[in-house]
Amino acid sequence: MLKPPPRYQLVTTEDGSETLFSEAFNEACHSTAGARAETRFHYLEGCRLSELLHSFDEINILEVGFGTGIGWLETLAFFKNYPQKKLNFTSLELDAALLSWSVPEAKKINALTYELEQDNSKLRVLIGDARHSIHTLPSEHFHAIYQDAFSPKRNPTLWTHQWFTDLKRVAHPDCTLATYSASVSIRKSLLKSGWSVFEGPAFAQKRSSTRANLSGVMDPEFLAKLNTHAIAALDDKDFL
Ligand SMILES: C[S@@+](CC[C@H](N)C(=O)[O-])C[C@H]1O[C@@H](n2cnc3c(N)ncnc32)[C@H](O)[C@@H]1O
Repeated sequence: MLKPPPRYQLVTTEDGSETLFSEAFNEACHSTAGARAETRFHYLEGCRLSELLHSFDEINILEVGFGTGIGWLETLAFFKNYPQKKLNFTSLELDAALLSWSVPEAKKINALTYELEQDNSKLRVLIGDARHSIHTLPSEHFHAIYQDAFSPKRNPTLWTHQWFTDLKRVAHPDCTLATYSASVSIRKSLLKSGWSVFEGPAFAQKRSSTRANLSGVMDPEFLAKLNTHAIAALDDKDFL
């Protein structure tokens, strides 16, 4: 078994796949109910990849947090079934050690960029604080966003309304953003930055999850509940 990078512990989850526990964030990258299953459930299915393939020959995906690389590996495996389609997978990650651990074959292009091309798929990982690297990405580009930072409690800067405003800029008009989090504060952050927000299905023991897009009509009852909830959207200035 591969030794984990420094300050991470390997954890085997209930579907047999492995995740990493980060000592820095004091949290695991996935649910213990199944790292692979959770990734497929929230991101491949949550972002409607199969449906996107009906409309586009080339799909651009943005992942927030490369972590163990499972998001990339599962998406790559999915695209192997569609050799005539093209996948461009961009991931934003703070810790370069994770990439060297999970995808050592990725080529270092410059101090902050790693790339890997395989058949019909291309991976690009931008190392550094996602709040800075996002400004290098093109507007209206990504058909799917895997919002997979650590929890809002542990990793609040990637759940603020400013962050979701930046994600909105890079989102293609048909983009779906999916995340495992069902917290009211992150839903309010999404709403404040102009996303339409929807309750997503529950994985394992969770209550629900969240999906968002740029053109959907929100359920009026869900919207009213969010608007009247005492909990506020997260604001970057509270985490300086
Ligand atoms: C839940 S894990 C991601 C799991 C990953 N998608 C996977 O498939 O394994 C969250 C990741 O976000 C990264 N992260 C946390 N804060 C960040 C930031 N400000 N900028 C970029 N990456 C960040 C962490 O280093 C960690 O790898």
